[in-house]
Amino acid sequence: YVIGIDLGTSAVKALLVDRNGQVAGEASRSYPLIQERSGWSEQRPEDWVEATVETLYALMQSSGAAPDAVEGISFSGQMHGLVLLDAGGRPLRNAILWNDTRTTSQCRHIEAALGDKLHAIARNPALEGMTMPKLLWVQQHEQELLAQAETLLLPKDYVRYRLTGELHMDYSDAAGTLMLDIAAKQWSRELLAAVGLSESEKLLPPLVESHQEVGALLPAIADRTGLVGSTKVFAGGADNACGAIGAGILDEGLTLCSIGTSGVILTYEGNVGRSYDGGMHLFNHGKQDAYYGMGVTLAAGYSLSWFKNTFAAGESYDELLAGLSEVEAGAGGLLFTPYLVGERTPHGDAVIRGSFIGMDSSHERIHFARAVMEGITFSLNESLHLFRAAGKPIDKVVSIGGGARNPAWLQMQADVFGASVISLKHEQGPGLGAAMLAAYGCGWFDSLEQCARRFVDYGMTYEPHPERTTKYEELFQIYRDVYRQTRGLNE
Ligand code: XUL
Repeated sequence: YVIGIDLGTSAVKALLVDRNGQVAGEASRSYPLIQERSGWSEQRPEDWVEATVETLYALMQSSGAAPDAVEGISFSGQMHGLVLLDAGGRPLRNAILWNDTRTTSQCRHIEAALGDKLHAIARNPALEGMTMPKLLWVQQHEQELLAQAETLLLPKDYVRYRLTGELHMDYSDAAGTLMLDIAAKQWSRELLAAVGLSESEKLLPPLVESHQEVGALLPAIADRTGLVGSTKVFAGGADNACGAIGAGILDEGLTLCSIGTSGVILTYEGNVGRSYDGGMHLFNHGKQDAYYGMGVTLAAGYSLSWFKNTFAAGESYDELLAGLSEVEAGAGGLLFTPYLVGERTPHGDAVIRGSFIGMDSSHERIHFARAVMEGITFSLNESLHLFRAAGKPIDKVVSIGGGARNPAWLQMQADVFGASVISLKHEQGPGLGAAMLAAYGCGWFDSLEQCARRFVDYGMTYEPHPERTTKYEELFQIYRDVYRQTRGLNE
């Protein structure tokens, strides 16, 4: 067996996976978010470690697997979170997470100090979520604390450190710090110096590939989890990179659509060459020397859960969406923009808010529900458009997350995207990608692609319907106009 550990924002989840890619057991433990002020979002690194140890123990107990039958462990982790350790390897403060937005002024400083270098070297926009602005915030507000710091890690790297005693960071996660030279695959002294963080270079850990073996389980952890001390530990990757691996996004021409609370369109890049507008991300993949481009819709599934909680409280999604297929594409002229908490791609606008337009007295709640789903899909289509505009053909999209659970939504994605949409038979999320990194690292396969052929099982394919695709293309133009027309509303 191998174990894939997915360290998420609300919980850690572990999968026990056999040589055929079958999941033989799973366990999960949650931990709290600490939100002391509006816009702040932190977690206690110790909570991650305790929850991970408990999860591994529960996994071993419930699956009945023999301790020495587990050959390797790897990780997927929430991206960007800042973990600072002192000389003894102890956290100096709570981790500041990816969804913490206190760093707007630090982002403006980064843009002013770096100009074009930011895009040329880090290949990403300066966003509040990223690690470099968080480090600048600590430098500005907690100078004495920073002076005691010896090491900077990302969330899953800290958990791995506590499980093995070894300090590392993999390229796919390092790419989200804004301190990595994405093409050269090394920490960028130039970026650090330009923003006034030269002193912090010494905090940055050695960089490794995601499938690289970086240590073995410490005896004390083995005792507490029911595993053996020699179990190999592999570096692992960022949750989006692991989500891509777990969905088989390992080749040119394959794109991922993931609709969870937020939504992601992610496309495989064989090299670092292509440049995208609209604040698109370019990150190192968990597959060696590959990359992925990524656009984000902030309120994807969140828009639908907001709608359900507000207008159908107490009902299930099945009840809310009954009759969805009877409403035609276009929701009878009703259009929704999902900017409930602002928007990341392509607008990078924290102030914009959502809208319903085109209401008719004949509309019922199901029209509104369909319009919400179409609006979320239009927002993801913005990212697809940016990829296509830069010359990237997109004709095959693997869809995962809550948005892949409803066949009508999968068909809607095919129609809006004008691409084939493929579902997975047994979706396991980024934990499976982490398990695949361990399986490849253990030498079970010659490549991640070979592993994917065994581990990733595709289900139904939904083809775009020409008439509906044409209709959605027209509506998409109106959808885009709504942003321009409503910008002033919430300023
Ligand atoms: C990516 C991002 C999120 C986190 C969630 O840029 O901020 O997807 O990785 O864990």
